[in-house]
Amino acid sequence: MSFVVAIDGPAGSGKGTITKLVGDKLNLINIDTGATFRCVALAMLDNKIGLDEEEKIKELLNNIKIDLTEENGKQKVMLNGKDVTLEIRTPKVNEFVSPVSKLKIVRENLLILQRKMAEGKNVIMEGRDIGTSVFPNANVKIYLDATAEERAKRRLKQNKENNIKGSYEEILESIKSRDNQDSNREISPLRKAEDAIYVDSTNMTIEEVTDYIIEIIKKVK
Ligand code: DC
Repeated sequence: MSFVVAIDGPAGSGKGTITKLVGDKLNLINIDTGATFRCVALAMLDNKIGLDEEEKIKELLNNIKIDLTEENGKQKVMLNGKDVTLEIRTPKVNEFVSPVSKLKIVRENLLILQRKMAEGKNVIMEGRDIGTSVFPNANVKIYLDATAEERAKRRLKQNKENNIKGSYEEILESIKSRDNQDSNREISPLRKAEDAIYVDSTNMTIEEVTDYIIEIIKKVK
């Protein structure tokens, strides 16, 4: 039997950082489901496949290989054997990933993959619909939030560290647009599960959020 911690929330809420820190402390395998959608978006861009080309998308999904691994304590994302860890975070992919993640065929395929990734393991899984759709029976569910302005500030800092270009205004705009698309899509929209614990991290440090979530998990474990 596996133990599942679900961390959902909007873009830039700190899910990635917090998930990694909590996972390392509690020995839980970190699964970033956003990276799986980003891989599909990147593969579609690389192969010049449009959002309405269902047959081509089907074929792409049948042959795609996505691996989330770790190297020197850092998460590595492999797409068909190629390291795409940084490439999946570029503005081009940021723009394309929300419409891609709306597609039924993409969600159906990735749902199977995401469940398989967690099979028999103790995991901390981050995304938008983990507590509502991927693992509705997760042992712990957290909904991590922060204001759009705070999230844009954090993304800007992260991008600078990774040499990814873009101004604060551009990032804020992109975050708001993604919030809107992710929350209003038809299938598995971004939504707090009824039984998820809501954490507003706007005025909290990374350490405070990490410690708080660890306490919540320890009570259940
Ligand atoms: O967490 P992220 O920003 O890397 O996610 C990229 C996109 O993938 C996001 O705009 C919405 C989508 N996504 C999703 O629909 N469901 C998930 N479980 C995770 C991500």
